[in-house]
Amino acid sequence: MKKLTDRGNFGSRIGLVLATAGSAVGLGNVWRFPITTGNNGGAAFIIVYFMFVLMLGIPGMLCEFVVGRRSQRNAARSYRNFTHMRYWKYVGYLGILTATIVLGFYAVVAGWCLEYFFASLTGRLDGDAAYVKQYFISFATHPWKPCLWAILFIMMTHLVVVRGVKNGIERASKVLMPLPLVLLVVIVVVSCTLPGAGQGIAFLFHPDFSKVDGRVLVEALGQAFFSLSLGTCCLCTYASYFSKETRLVQSAAQIAVLDTLIAILAGLMIFPAAFSVGDVSFASGDAAKSSLMFTVLPDLFHRAFVEVPWMGRTISILFFALLVFAALTSTISMHEIGTAFFTEERRLPRRVSAWVITAVASVIAIFCSLGNGPLAQVTILGRGILDFCNDITANFMMPAGALLTSIFVGWFASRDKVRDEFTNHGTQSVRLFNIFLITVRWVVPLLIILIFLHLFGVV
Ligand code: PHE
Repeated sequence: MKKLTDRGNFGSRIGLVLATAGSAVGLGNVWRFPITTGNNGGAAFIIVYFMFVLMLGIPGMLCEFVVGRRSQRNAARSYRNFTHMRYWKYVGYLGILTATIVLGFYAVVAGWCLEYFFASLTGRLDGDAAYVKQYFISFATHPWKPCLWAILFIMMTHLVVVRGVKNGIERASKVLMPLPLVLLVVIVVVSCTLPGAGQGIAFLFHPDFSKVDGRVLVEALGQAFFSLSLGTCCLCTYASYFSKETRLVQSAAQIAVLDTLIAILAGLMIFPAAFSVGDVSFASGDAAKSSLMFTVLPDLFHRAFVEVPWMGRTISILFFALLVFAALTSTISMHEIGTAFFTEERRLPRRVSAWVITAVASVIAIFCSLGNGPLAQVTILGRGILDFCNDITANFMMPAGALLTSIFVGWFASRDKVRDEFTNHGTQSVRLFNIFLITVRWVVPLLIILIFLHLFGVV
């Protein structure tokens, strides 16, 4: 076996928190959160989402941190190293599969951001709401353009991942993470001051609990897990590069708070603008599902800066550039899981392992992209290909991965090892450990099982 020092570690505390937060913060917050919030009734959904982040998300992150850091190995090996029961490695396999599917469809949306970056640069997005909507439709349904952008995006990810943990992932995250936050705040202010924006703000903050049904629970669970990168072993793999001094609870809490904050800011950016232009078709759930951000924002930039068009264009360019970066820090983590696995378990050179993941993800991306155009008539369980990949991973595969991980940590892994890792060998609070243990033994599995039973129509 390779020595631990050969694998590389994150070089600094801030580097590791930023890299892990970089995995969490991405299109899940800015693109997916507004869509699921819009389709599930707004404020009440957000409250359920908060509850799930707190009750399931943070304990779930801690489980993956404990497993990953203890073993200092790739996802599959991490589970095996913790017990003598070999079949737990399949949880790692599930994570690798899930992350690679996510990488495939995520790259399509990230590719749209690339297109929008260049379109803003060349002024192709300047126009009224109807023009912007039409622009999105003609682009997303184009047979090969979006495929090319998606593959380009996967290649960008590939290039960072082959450089390794410290030089590639950490360095990229340190630069790329803080920038989008600043710009997001600027756009929120612009959006909230548009005429009629108040309705959008109310949609986000005045809950109507009669809207909470089983579907809302399933979607909130999926969104919480997707947004925190949970249940794919991404966090487990990143934690395997943590140092022994990293405080796990503090890091998990910081990442969850930052991630949630950015999602709310994204909501505050999209909804006031959407209500202001009267684009509220999402409220009835029949919006062209994935387009919200791509139709509302260019219109927002255009309308808010009619007097000073160069300013609207500059903000648009910056926004899509930063979104590309935010997406990149997430796709890097999805890619890294499989790359680490093939490098360490199959003993392939890191370069070759990275190519395996790049190739598989590219094929998935091509199908997802064609699903909006030439393959639009292909549906799986009533959904287009991209929506199917999106729903099956977030609402089913990721919660399943997290469920198995919590059962593993709560019931099967050696309690002493878990306590040791959780408390940094007794230097951190043991009281918190007891709360954690009860949560992962009972609360996390029971809640997820209950929601699954509902998903399959049993309750
Ligand atoms: N959490 C990321 C986001 O919000 C997406 C992601 C999912 C990253 C799964 C890694 C694994 O964009």
